[in-house]
This record gives sequence, C-alpha cells and structure tokens, in this order.
Amino acid sequence: MMIQRKGIILAGGNGTRLRPITNTIPKCLLPVYDKPMIYYSLSAMLLCEIKDLLIITRPEDKNSFKRLLGDGYQWGIKVKYAVQPKPRGIADALIIGEKFLGQSSCVLMLGDNLFYGNGLERKLQKLSRSEKNSVLAYEVKDPERFGICEINSSGLVVSLKEKPSKPKSNLAVTGLYFYDKNVSSVAKKLKPSKRGELEITDLNMRYMENNKLYAEVLGKGFSWFDAGTIESLL
Ligand code: G1P
Repeated sequence: MMIQRKGIILAGGNGTRLRPITNTIPKCLLPVYDKPMIYYSLSAMLLCEIKDLLIITRPEDKNSFKRLLGDGYQWGIKVKYAVQPKPRGIADALIIGEKFLGQSSCVLMLGDNLFYGNGLERKLQKLSRSEKNSVLAYEVKDPERFGICEINSSGLVVSLKEKPSKPKSNLAVTGLYFYDKNVSSVAKKLKPSKRGELEITDLNMRYMENNKLYAEVLGKGFSWFDAGTIESLL
C-alpha cells in the first residue's frame, strides 16, 4: 500500500561548534555553496513527495525561516512553523509535531544533513511510500561521533548505540528517519539522556526491539554530510 507521509525538519539547536558565525545566523541558514543549508533538507522532503511540512526552529529564528520559505506555495507544498524553546533533542521534534502529524506517518530530517548522489530520488521515494520504519545508514571513518547500527541480511536493524566508544560497525545512522503514526506517543515515553536530550537513538531502539526498524545503506556513489562542524561545513 502506498502511504502519504507528513514531513518535519528540525532546524533548531545553537550551532555551538560553528561559533562565532552562528552568533547571529542560525546554523541551517548558513550558505552551502549557493543556497541556505535548509534548502538541501527541503529538497530531500520534496523527493520524499511530502505535501505538508513542519519546520521547527528556535523561537528567535522563526521569522527568518518564514521570510525565506514562506508558506511553501512556490514548491507546491504547505509549510508550517513551530518552535523548540530549548535544545531538548531530536526526538523532541516528534512531540512538538504531534498535533501537526495527527494520524499520519512521517519523515523527520535534521536541517543540517545533506544527501547527494545518483539515484537518491528513487531511494527516498521508495522509503517514503513504504510502510516500513526506516533509517538511512552511511559508512563513516569516525563512528564515535554518531549513532551506529548493525543490520542483518534482510535490512533489519539488530543493534544500535549512540556515540559508541567501541563501535560494532562503522554504519552511521544519518539524520533522515521514516516513522509510522505511533511515533509521537513512543517519543513521549522517552527519558532524557545524560546530555539532557530526548535521544533519537533511544526512540529508534524502541522500534528495533519490536523488530520494526529497517536501515537502507547509502553505498558507493552517495555522499552524506552532517554540517555541524566547521570542517564538514567546508
Ligand atoms: C545526532 C544523532 C546521531 C546521528 C547524528 C546524525 O547526533 O544523535 O544518532 O548519527 O545526529 O547527524 P548529534 O548531532 O546530536 O550529536
């Protein structure tokens, strides 16, 4: 069965690792070559065939994002805005977005993640149309920095760890997630981690424990960037 998901882009956060440039400009509005960073998540959402999109920002940045993206009319979609008063974690976006999502399944994307590659359109369309809960995995050299997963031959995620000191694989869970309609209630049951955040890895673990989380590996020919540091932004 083909399903219609709603989209959420989380563009909050203080961009502390990009200071001083983020002292006055929100991270997701910084230029990446010729476009503001958030355009890359927006285009990923369009490839996922999203028609209703919620953009979550810090309260002080909401108007800047609105000025840039408006109501979405120019892309043939509806864009709404919500705020995250404190950086309470990625999974918090699914609680903020609960009303917006209603009974829909969703795609959640971090506003500082960039995907590029041949066949991306087909891949995102397939994942978005499928009923499965999925994440995208990408091989990295520095697995200590990310959520790391192991998958079996059917693509089911069988282990997950946030920033492991002894990584079991080098497959990073990227910042683009596909969830069913229950995700807000699952997120609401999470407890904050040591860093005081509702961790997306904890949420993914709930799905994994029920054998309901799949990973699609982005292989050769794909690039993924998390533009949260100066080096990756460059
Ligand atoms: C977050 C997630 C991590 C994921 C990463 C992708 O890390 O917690 O699982 O691999 O985004 O960008 P953070 O940027 O919050 O350290």
